[in-house]
Amino acid sequence: MRSPPYSLSKFLVGLRSASAAVVLAIVGLAIGGGGFAATCTPKLKPTTPAGFYATKYEKTPTAAAMTAMGRVLFFDTALSASGRMSCASCHDPANAMGPANSLSVQLGGPQLQDAGNRAAPSLKYLQTSPAFTEHFFGSEGNDSEDQGPTGGLTWDGRFNQPHAQATAPLLSPVEMANADSRDVLAKLRKSPSAAQFRQTYGDHVLDAGNESLAWNGLLLALEVFQQSPAEFYPYTSKYDAMLRKQVALSASEQRGLALFNDTQRGNCATCHISVIQSGAFPQFTDYGLIALGVPRNAAIPSNANPTYFDLGLCGPLRTDLQSHPEYCGRFKTPTLRNVALKKSFFHNGVLHNLEEVIRFYSERDVHPEKFYPRKADGSVDKFNDLPAMYRGNLDSLAPFNQPNRRQPLFTEAEIADLLAFLNTLTDGFTTP
Ligand code: HEC
Ligand code: HEC
Repeated sequence: MRSPPYSLSKFLVGLRSASAAVVLAIVGLAIGGGGFAATCTPKLKPTTPAGFYATKYEKTPTAAAMTAMGRVLFFDTALSASGRMSCASCHDPANAMGPANSLSVQLGGPQLQDAGNRAAPSLKYLQTSPAFTEHFFGSEGNDSEDQGPTGGLTWDGRFNQPHAQATAPLLSPVEMANADSRDVLAKLRKSPSAAQFRQTYGDHVLDAGNESLAWNGLLLALEVFQQSPAEFYPYTSKYDAMLRKQVALSASEQRGLALFNDTQRGNCATCHISVIQSGAFPQFTDYGLIALGVPRNAAIPSNANPTYFDLGLCGPLRTDLQSHPEYCGRFKTPTLRNVALKKSFFHNGVLHNLEEVIRFYSERDVHPEKFYPRKADGSVDKFNDLPAMYRGNLDSLAPFNQPNRRQPLFTEAEIADLLAFLNTLTDGFTTP
């Protein structure tokens, strides 16, 4: 297994491979545009990614101190407008850092009554997620082939590092709902976390004038915490134990794995990688951004507007690739590690149990009426969340697009096997 990049020096190395321009844009926006210009020393202004990681604090914290600080901040409800929401509200450690409830999208905002637009993902196993690129050339086998848009954080890959991503929930009006970074810091000063924050970065870090230091310190601690192996990538599933040859999969689990890997059947592993590559345990994703045409979710309030479409990579949440119609409908392939703990699936949380997801892969093209509503004329409104002009972007690999298939891809027994296999991906397995 590739050793995980949890130490400061290692993520500095990782940074070199990241897209500097994107981080620059994000950090520049969050800090430069955040209204600190008048108060912060220009020298400390983190306008480059190197600048972010090179920020000099009064006290230089150890990685362990930052991890501990990040853990506290991750659970700190004082950092939200409602006073009741933290990162952990949507990313619960008891649910593989995903939501505890089965809502398609979570409720946030000042009164915790405002719905978001997307399902909250698990935060586990993101540590090897590559920076977003429009043209990915894999390192394994077919490395001369352009695999298209790949990588980045969130369903549309618009952030590269967790510190840049963290600005989104802190400032989103439908999540933690702070007005700006200054507002977050005002709350941090009054929070029980403040004492530890000063211990971590120095007595004056929360003083007026040090806002850019404090903001970087907050984001960095959250990032370092999310790199902690025990909580975020323990590799303790039955599948990992099987890879370490400590346990064998049951007959049903093995049949499920074979279907998952079989390029003529499930073909799942083409995108949800299941084998050790370059010595690293599999993440069950290749980080590709792909259009599957999942059904529109009427439970998302934005979707009450018939002209609103979440098109993923081409917007509207992501704004830099809006002139690329060929990217519309693409969302990031999620990891399937701990997927059996999830209660809503796909970027819009439209399905609510894992068996239904398998049936979607099995029957989308033979029984679309099971997943999509009917139009007034009685015909099935297939791909109703992707305008017709973008349907050429839909993925055409197996298990989809097999014109000769008349039956569901999987039998009932095969669905049970696939479920048994997917359950081996849940962390916390102990050898019987
Ligand atoms: C109200 C619920 C909510 C809260 C609170 C929240 N998140 Fe999230 N998180 C989400 C959703 C929804 C997404 C997907 C966003 C998207 O695709 O645009 C997400 C995505 C992420 C991702 C990217 C995951 C991936 O698969 O690429 C990270 C990292 C993350 N959140 C970290 C945090 C941190 C750190 C905090 C606290 C500062 C936080 N979140 C607070 C709902 C939430
Ligand atoms: C061509 C690439 C590709 C193939 C092949 C593929 N998937 Fe996926 N998978 C994706 C993408 C992309 C998503 C997210 C789509 C979205 O939300 O719009 C996804 C989502 C999922 C989810 C939901 C996970 C979550 O966190 O919401 C499950 C479960 C899943 N796939 C299982 C499978 C299984 C089982 C197979 C084989 C039958 C398979 N996938 C084949 C790309 C693929």
